[in-house]
Amino acid sequence: MERMKRLTVLGATGSVGRRALELIEHYPGQFRVEGLAARGTNPELVAELCRTHRPRMVALADEDAVDVLARILGHPRPEILGGARGLVALARDVEADVVLSAIVGAAGLLPTMAAIETGKAVAIANKEPLVMAGSLMTAAARRHKAPLLPVDSEHSAIFQCLEGQQRGQVHRILLTASGGPFRRMSKADMASVSVEDALNHPTWKMGAKITVDSATLMNKGLEIIEARWLFGVPAEQVQVVVHPQSIIHSMVEYVDGSVIAQLGVADMGIPILYALTFPERRPTPAAGRSPIACRRRLTRRHPRACATSSSGCPRTRAARGCLSRRETRPRRPGSRTRCPRRSRRR
Ligand SMILES: NC(=O)c1ccc[n+]([C@@H]2O[C@H](COP(=O)([O-])OP(=O)(O)OC[C@H]3O[C@@H](n4cnc5c(N)ncnc54)[C@H](OP(=O)(O)O)[C@@H]3O)[C@@H](O)[C@H]2O)c1
Repeated sequence: MERMKRLTVLGATGSVGRRALELIEHYPGQFRVEGLAARGTNPELVAELCRTHRPRMVALADEDAVDVLARILGHPRPEILGGARGLVALARDVEADVVLSAIVGAAGLLPTMAAIETGKAVAIANKEPLVMAGSLMTAAARRHKAPLLPVDSEHSAIFQCLEGQQRGQVHRILLTASGGPFRRMSKADMASVSVEDALNHPTWKMGAKITVDSATLMNKGLEIIEARWLFGVPAEQVQVVVHPQSIIHSMVEYVDGSVIAQLGVADMGIPILYALTFPERRPTPAAGRSPIACRRRLTRRHPRACATSSSGCPRTRAARGCLSRRETRPRRPGSRTRCPRRSRRR
């Protein structure tokens, strides 16, 4: 019988952390939450997570929040540690099969390193430490045989496109970017945008810092460095491609010209769960909402599609909006559209 996966969540109250904790509730008996960490901005929320998931240990970076949480929880309660050292102790000492690294910013570096140095698998969302200290983190991961599993949707996509392939045969990584809410704005329009505008991301629902970083495209710069360290490629081999629909989450082009892409709906639940269950996959709430099944979002072409838009199969041309007036006339019930090119060839 499969053993329960023991989990520690660093950044448990954030967008990624909460999503992970909500998701695992759908798989009773498969995950056990051992440790939770946050800054402590909202002790009530931490208390609620403790009641739901019953971790053995909690760490809050804000030492003042430790007493508040202890008061809210009463007895019995998990061991509660405080300060940056508390976070490191939690990541290092709590037995876990996977540590989800989802603190925002530089504060995640030390606890994430502590998890790596104890050989735990790290599902890594917190990209800033990789940007700051990618060479140290990846060297430690190799030394301690700690798998680094990407959570960022683009890096999860690249990870999946690289599976079973030879790294030496990668020509380049195509890192997709939605372009954010200001993609179509002129420089003059940009002068009057507000924080609220920047927080209104067109395709992804995320925490505040990454959403603003996405609007300024700073996030894409961070992601190039993240890819550089996670996949051991020079930054020049990573090319950014703007893809506003966020359906293709990234691609890898190989030396023979083949491009392997990973597609899916814009839902962080998919890469989060994949990192937690790797190498297995579980059904997520997004299953069945595949963009391939969603006709409006990807151009569908008739399998017998003809090559040019000025001639060819009427169904294909109808999809492109280039039918002649005769072809758009209502057809008699029961009559079939014929493909002129196919009939000519016969
Ligand atoms: N959100 C996404 O969809 C997404 C996608 C890809 C990658 N990422 C990356 O994942 C990371 C987390 O992003 P997010 O959007 O989930 O952030 P978020 O919603 O702002 O949550 C941040 C989390 O970090 C905790 N935290 C902040 N400062 C801390 C400190 N000094 N010490 C300990 N904990 C601290 C917060 O605790 P409090 O609540 O107590 O303040 C909270 O739990 C970021 O590096 C981001 O780039 C996020």
